[in-house]
Amino acid sequence: MQINAQRVNERLQCLSQFGRTADGGVTRYALSPEEKAATDTVAGWMRQAGLEVRRDAVGNLFGRLAGREDGPALLTGSHLDSVPNGGHYDGPAGVLGALEALESMKEQGLVPTRPIEMVSLMGEEGSRFPHGLMGSSFVTGSFPYEHLQEMTDRQGVRLFDALQAYGANPGDAKSAAVTEGAYSAYVEMHIEQSGLLESRDLPVGIVSGIAGMRQLQGVIRGRAEHAGACPMNLRLDPMPAAAEIILEVERAARESDPATRATVGFVTAKPGAANVIPAEVALSFDIRDLDGDRRDACLERVRRYFDAILKRRGLSGEMVLQHTSTPIRCDAGLVNVMSEAAEALGMEPYQLPSGAVHDGANIAEICPVAMIFLRSRAGLSHCPQEYTSPEDVAAGTLLLAETLWRLSN
Ligand code: GLV
Ligand code: MN
Ligand code: MN
Repeated sequence: MQINAQRVNERLQCLSQFGRTADGGVTRYALSPEEKAATDTVAGWMRQAGLEVRRDAVGNLFGRLAGREDGPALLTGSHLDSVPNGGHYDGPAGVLGALEALESMKEQGLVPTRPIEMVSLMGEEGSRFPHGLMGSSFVTGSFPYEHLQEMTDRQGVRLFDALQAYGANPGDAKSAAVTEGAYSAYVEMHIEQSGLLESRDLPVGIVSGIAGMRQLQGVIRGRAEHAGACPMNLRLDPMPAAAEIILEVERAARESDPATRATVGFVTAKPGAANVIPAEVALSFDIRDLDGDRRDACLERVRRYFDAILKRRGLSGEMVLQHTSTPIRCDAGLVNVMSEAAEALGMEPYQLPSGAVHDGANIAEICPVAMIFLRSRAGLSHCPQEYTSPEDVAAGTLLLAETLWRLSN
């Protein structure tokens, strides 16, 4: 098996123009013009490569390499959307690695026994609409379809309207769910986003499992008043309550397990002025763990604290669950094949867990899942400094191609 290392890296560089930010990062929200431009560009490369290209009703992009026989296809891919001011590798590396693997097979006249499909999944990050892993939840049929009409982005645009503006067909969203047995396995290549591979001086790793997350939105309501005139003892100020709760989020995760992670990623105050006590503070909660029970215990501790602080301070409010993903173990059979492929290529089959969430967590509902990780410089991700070297992208892509080839035959 061979791949074209230069081509996959040049394409990664090329995609980085779509949504590039002033400090060198990328903002490419789901269903935005920037994401559409990146997706259209990849679709063009897929056609050039001779793949059979199709888009489903919710903006997922598929490309198929036919097999000698029909039957369940192998699925491989990732996503092209990003977090605000994120990095250029989270997602695109896996989409372009998948394309490179398929294109290389075609060029070398390697026809797999069964078909292989690549995919770019819409809205993995949940940065625009408050629902991550969105494209894959349509594929598995688990998306709560009422959210199409109800869910809005921070500008108030409904998901349904965003899909329509994108050129997708939200009225037919249910058609994106695949039939049972359509896929035999899902294999995703992704950057590690943490520092284990770097600390072990390894270019690639094999993912053992993916953490599960719960994301919630909290709202704390107080009373807007004059910041200078209102005495300290007469205030109903939601901001100090938020501060106390945020500290408890950190404590709850630290006192849990090293695999527990809890984050308040954004806080907004209304009306939002230096000289006004806020009427309302909204804050996000993102709580994850490889162990679902431990994650939920951490969340319950935060909830109890939230309720107690609001009560003590005479405030009202609630924490509302917005998105859940289940922790999964990667499939042992796939991990074996991937480990053998790695050894055949002279790579150490080192296994490591993923603290980040990936579409595979959803896709595990319909077929076995495995992932390849690429070394991330300094473990940095979801920031402009995110970086994986061209050599490591090439090593991971070669392992992906070899794994897909072995699995499809
Ligand atoms: C996706 O990057 C996530 O883990 O939130
Ligand atoms: Mn990400
Ligand atoms: Mn990602």
